[in-house]
Amino acid sequence: MPYTVSKLTDFSPAALDAAVRELLSALEEESEAVVCEQQMEPYENPWKAFRDRWMARKNGILTQLNDLWLKAAPGPSKKDVGQRVNELRKTVEGMVEVAQKRLLFAKAVPTEVIHPGIEVPADELEAYAKRVALASQRVDITLPGIRRPIGAEHPVIKTMNEMIAVFRNLGFSVEEGPEVETDFYNFEALNFPPNHPARDTQDTLFIAGQESKPPRDRLLLRTHTSPVQIRTMQKMKPPVRVVCPGKVHRNDALDATHSPIFHQIEGLAVDTNITFCDLKGTLDHAMKAMFGSNVKTRFYPSFFPFTEPSADVQISCIFCDGKGVRDGAPCRNCKASGWIELLGCGMVDPNVYGFVDYDASKYSGFAFGMGVERIAILKYGVDDIQLFFSGDVRFLEQFG
Ligand code: DAH
Repeated sequence: MPYTVSKLTDFSPAALDAAVRELLSALEEESEAVVCEQQMEPYENPWKAFRDRWMARKNGILTQLNDLWLKAAPGPSKKDVGQRVNELRKTVEGMVEVAQKRLLFAKAVPTEVIHPGIEVPADELEAYAKRVALASQRVDITLPGIRRPIGAEHPVIKTMNEMIAVFRNLGFSVEEGPEVETDFYNFEALNFPPNHPARDTQDTLFIAGQESKPPRDRLLLRTHTSPVQIRTMQKMKPPVRVVCPGKVHRNDALDATHSPIFHQIEGLAVDTNITFCDLKGTLDHAMKAMFGSNVKTRFYPSFFPFTEPSADVQISCIFCDGKGVRDGAPCRNCKASGWIELLGCGMVDPNVYGFVDYDASKYSGFAFGMGVERIAILKYGVDDIQLFFSGDVRFLEQFG
């Protein structure tokens, strides 16, 4: 049975002597066991277990002595008990230290030279301990080093940076906004009136417990990067030419082409005399820069609350060169149509200028928004959007 501190009721010197003797013999026995590495119980480092058992601040034997002996002692015995506990403390601390040195010594010399109970001069022990410590820190500089694989840029970030570079070359700068947005920025100021059905096209994740706030102040995870348009226009006056990359969230079930988290790049240009021609020229150039100069673009009527008119941009299918047929079979990538839909865009709706104090009679502008994963999927021929988020290095290292 391992030693346990007994609760004292008799505090006479004779009873105390007996209790102290019992404790010391347990201490000695356990310290020998540790030095001979006969572990007290399975424990990675028997010396640490020994130290903790006796000295742990929380429930070590020394702490228990304070509680079970000293605190329990009646007034007249307090001093006597106090002195004994103090002495025991010094003894335990000394034994723990000696046990450690003996262990280090035992490792430094062949085991047959040292036996439990051997008396070793303190300075010799010290010297051995130092030698052991130094030896354990030796580095063999002739060994080959550890080769750490060089990471690769994530394909989504890579695509994002490529897109941004295209627009930077056209004079656009980069703006960012928060992922946790208010209803005002994500919807209202983008001309989605409260309860407007256009909100349903973006299955929104709202932060819970905000019923007491006015609707426009309620927080949500932004469903698109378009709110950065509003934040930018509040911050600066025209001319504005920005792209806004970032992460967006929708309550979408996950499948090969949908993920509840994905990335977008927003674009906004506002100035005097900006026309639909500027929008077409800019996006046509950007698509050619991304997918090759053979690619054609086509603008297809669409609807977004914050643009008027609005359009979806399609590019000629990069898999079948816009023919709709590949290797004699209907092209699967464009469903044989020859066109692939890539992004939304339009001329900024004058209502939006009302929310940011721009003079709608003086300025006009265009905006666009595109999904980064979608572009990366096309560019790299990836067949499952989940690959971007699963962290599988076999997939990711292909983009290095
Ligand atoms: N925010 C839209 C979406 O996520 C995309 C979009 C369409 C952005 C038209 C625009 C735009 O700036 O003009 O569905």
